[in-house]
Amino acid sequence: MTEMNQAILLRRRPVGAPNADDFEFVETAMPQPGEGQVLVRARFLSLDPYMRGRMSDAKSYSAPVALGAVMEGQTVGEVVASRAAGFAAGDTVLGGYGWQRYSVVAPERLRHIAPGEVPLSQNLGLLGMPGLTAWVGLQDIGMPKKGETMVVSAASGAVGQVVGQLGRIIGCKVIGIAGGAAKCAFVENELGFDRCLDHRGDLNQQLDEACPEGIDVYWENVGGAVQAAVWPRLRDFGRMVMCGMVAQYNEAPGADAKGAPPGPNLGPVVRKRLRVQGFIVSDTGWGRYPQFRAEMLGHIASGRMRAREDIVQGLENAPAAFMGMLNGANFGKLVVAID
Ligand SMILES: NC(=O)c1ccc[n+]([C@@H]2O[C@H](COP(=O)([O-])OP(=O)(O)OC[C@H]3O[C@@H](n4cnc5c(N)ncnc54)[C@H](OP(=O)(O)O)[C@@H]3O)[C@@H](O)[C@H]2O)c1
Repeated sequence: MTEMNQAILLRRRPVGAPNADDFEFVETAMPQPGEGQVLVRARFLSLDPYMRGRMSDAKSYSAPVALGAVMEGQTVGEVVASRAAGFAAGDTVLGGYGWQRYSVVAPERLRHIAPGEVPLSQNLGLLGMPGLTAWVGLQDIGMPKKGETMVVSAASGAVGQVVGQLGRIIGCKVIGIAGGAAKCAFVENELGFDRCLDHRGDLNQQLDEACPEGIDVYWENVGGAVQAAVWPRLRDFGRMVMCGMVAQYNEAPGADAKGAPPGPNLGPVVRKRLRVQGFIVSDTGWGRYPQFRAEMLGHIASGRMRAREDIVQGLENAPAAFMGMLNGANFGKLVVAID
C-alpha cells in the first residue's frame, strides 16, 4: 500500500481566537519530487505565535496562507528522495515546508543539519528560529551589558528561555515574567534566572520588589497588561526589544483605530531617551545562523544553556496545541512529533 501524506489546511480566516473549524486535516497521495526538487519527511513541526498572523489577510511583513493551502511552519526531518544537487536520501534537514508529513521542497528552502548534535526537535527551538530570534534581538537591539537589569516576558517560552539565559551568561540581573507558579519555579530553578514574577499576581508590586532601581532592557514577548506594567520602569537610555505581543494577536487588526482601549502613553520614550525597536528574525538572522549555532552549541556544552520543550504527539493535534499556545497552555517550546 502506498503511504499517504497528511496535512493541515487553513479552512477559514479566524475572527478573534482561532477554533477547530478554521483548520482541516486531510490525507492525500504522497507527493513525488520533480527535477531540481527534494522530497522531505518531517519528523517534528514547530508551532509558533507568528502563525496566527499568517491566518489573517491583514497587511503584514509576510503574505498570508491562502485559504485551502497547507498551514505554514518550520519542520525538521529527513530527505526521502532527491532530484536536486547537494541533497541525498537520508540527509537531515531543517526548513519551512508546513504542517504536513511529506513535502516537495525547493533546495534553497532547506538547510543541512548535523544529526546528533542535539535532540532532533531542538533544531526547531533552542537552535531554531526562536533561539536565533533571541540571539539576534539581543545583539542588535537589547545590547545588554554586565550588571544591567533585564526583564523578559513569556520567560518559560521558546524565545524567552534563550533570551534570559543569554542575559545570565553576559552577567545581567535577569527577571522573568511567566504565567503560574510551575513556570516561574522552572525559570528560576532550571534556567537560573535571578527571579521570575507571575503575571497572574500583582505584577506591579512584584516589579517594585524585584527591580527597585528600574530596568535597562525589556524583552517584549507579550504586550497588553504585562507591557503596561513593565515599560514605565525603563531607566534612562533603556532598550525595549519589541519581539512580539502574543497577548494581542487575536485582536482584530486596526482595533486600536476603532475604539479599543488606548495603548500605553509612550511619551517618556523621549524624556528617557529610550530605544524601542521592533525586528523580524528573518531580516538578517538566517544569514548569521552558522555563527549563532556554533555559539549556542558552546553554551550547551558548557551547561549554561538548556531548553524545555512541550512535545505534542500527532499532526492531527497541532491545531488544538496551537490554539492553546495563544492562551499560555504550552510549557516550553511547542513542537509536534509527527510520527
Ligand atoms: N520578531 C520576531 O522575529 C519573532 C520571532 C519569534 C517569535 N516572536 C514572538 O516572540 C514571542 C514569544 O514567542 P515564543 O515562540 O517564544 O512563544 P512561547 O513563549 O513559547 O508561547 C507563548 C507564551 O506567551 C504567553 N502568553 C500568551 N498569552 C498571554 C497573555 N494573554 N498574557 C501573558 N502572556 C501570554 C504564554 O506564557 P505565560 O503562560 O508564561 O504567560 C505562552 O506560553 C511571541 O510574541 C512571538 O510572536 C517574534
